[in-house]
Amino acid sequence: MNQKNLVAERLAAVLPHLDVTAIYALLEKPKSSEMGDIAFPAFSLAKVEHKAPQAIAADIAEKVDAAGFEKVVATGPYVNFFLDKAAISHQVLTQVISEQANYGQLNIGQGHNVTIDMSSPNIAKPFSVGHLRSTVIGDALANIYAKMGYTPIRINHLGDWGKQFGMLIVAYKLWGDKATIEANPIDELLKLYVRINAEVEERPELDEEARQWFKKLEDGDEEAWELWQWFRDESLVEFNRIYEKLNVHFDSFNGEAFYNDKMDEGIQILEDKGLLKESKGAKIVDLESYNLPPALIMKSDGATLYITRDMATAMYRKRTYDFVKNIYVVGQEQINHFKQLKAVLKEMGFDWSDDMVHVTMGLVTKNKKKLSTRKGNIILLEPTLDEAVSRALSQIEAKNPELENKEEVAKAVGIGAVKFFDLKTDRDNGYDFDLEAMVSFEGETGPYVQYAYARIQSILRKADFVPAAENDYKLADAESWDIIKHIQNFSNIVERAGEKFDPSLVAKYAINLAQAFNKYYAHTRILDESPERDSRLALAYTTGLVLKEALRLLGVDTPEKM
Ligand code: ARG
Repeated sequence: MNQKNLVAERLAAVLPHLDVTAIYALLEKPKSSEMGDIAFPAFSLAKVEHKAPQAIAADIAEKVDAAGFEKVVATGPYVNFFLDKAAISHQVLTQVISEQANYGQLNIGQGHNVTIDMSSPNIAKPFSVGHLRSTVIGDALANIYAKMGYTPIRINHLGDWGKQFGMLIVAYKLWGDKATIEANPIDELLKLYVRINAEVEERPELDEEARQWFKKLEDGDEEAWELWQWFRDESLVEFNRIYEKLNVHFDSFNGEAFYNDKMDEGIQILEDKGLLKESKGAKIVDLESYNLPPALIMKSDGATLYITRDMATAMYRKRTYDFVKNIYVVGQEQINHFKQLKAVLKEMGFDWSDDMVHVTMGLVTKNKKKLSTRKGNIILLEPTLDEAVSRALSQIEAKNPELENKEEVAKAVGIGAVKFFDLKTDRDNGYDFDLEAMVSFEGETGPYVQYAYARIQSILRKADFVPAAENDYKLADAESWDIIKHIQNFSNIVERAGEKFDPSLVAKYAINLAQAFNKYYAHTRILDESPERDSRLALAYTTGLVLKEALRLLGVDTPEKM
């Protein structure tokens, strides 16, 4: 039984006016752990019992059954319960040792599918930091959902469709050169795209041409299709290099184009239900009752839109994966789009629309300024990731020049640092992209946590420690207790992170656990001869195990030596 429940039951036995649930809701965590682990405030009883809360607390502390607790004492108006540190530490240490990486595994999801729409960059455009956020947050959520017992499905909904491909075809036919593009696909395609957009200002007829090319593409015209396929392939080569670096993998790359021939069913349903309205030749769904602007489903020339494809996508996902949750990790700027999408599907009669979640993310800035492709304030992902790795390498060279596989460790540290910095930020907050802060070994960073892990491994190697779940490990001092409580809390954190779709809870947890261990390490000579030596080593071992598992959920590697 959980300790708080036990406290509530013990109290209920001596409190005639309150039941277990009411007591449970009143329980607090004392301000400092020296005051105890769980506190019951007696104020609310003062009125019914016509006594001062101090007197009531003293009375309860005397009457309550304290078996299994270290002690129960009244401090002013509070009854403070001290948990039995030795017994609980024994239970926690041996459980982690026997469950290994499975520690913290939940079965809430019972194998049900959760689809996660993540990363989803746009073909022929640079992979933005927004896409990086979506990639690492999506991947972490997938890991967290797996830890909760769900089966995650990582879907890269590529932005590979839309009128911009008509624009690109026109630009390519005017100025494009195959070899130049092949040498540097996204840069060159972006140049073409920027150029055609400028040109359209002068020559509006090009806009009409682009529209027609996109129409041809939608209708399966061979030339249009081949060019599009080529743009897509070339872009994917670049994206895949980034995914390799990030070590993120997908179950599906079905993007917008995949749904080009799957939109009729949804449109038909809208039609049948009389939900499609004509507006200046276009077809819209009125969403006034949702307090939303109307959703534009089809333009006057019959061309479909982003939302039309997302409708088909959601229906396809429900049918293919029968998701219990369909998560979209996409920036805040698309909030209205996803509200409209959910509303339209709801209007169509799909109750599973309620299971769709738009997981929003805040904006990343650089030098505190908004990023903007047009204004040239951009972060180019690939060179930036490489720079993170080389900065990690120089730090490692300074700290531990003897290290054998420096390059490999530098990759884990550099990439891990970028991911961790992103993930520790409350999802809806943005952050300033500052490589120096990310890769630092000090502060609340990935390298700080990785270093704590590596230090633990070094202690364990020195001691030749071999953990055994049947050993009588136990500890009762205040600093190890702090660590034990963190470790005990691991699955709660995983669950809350999943419920809130926010990996930052796991990242902060890893920081707290690493900090608690470092504090312990500073005050306790773990390797010294002592009757507690084995238990201390077991504590170091389990801390390492849980740190590694927490970082794994975040997609961050843990080198054994740093
Ligand atoms: N490609 C879009 C973008 O870069 C994100 C797509 C998100 N997923 C979706 N199903 N709409 O803005």
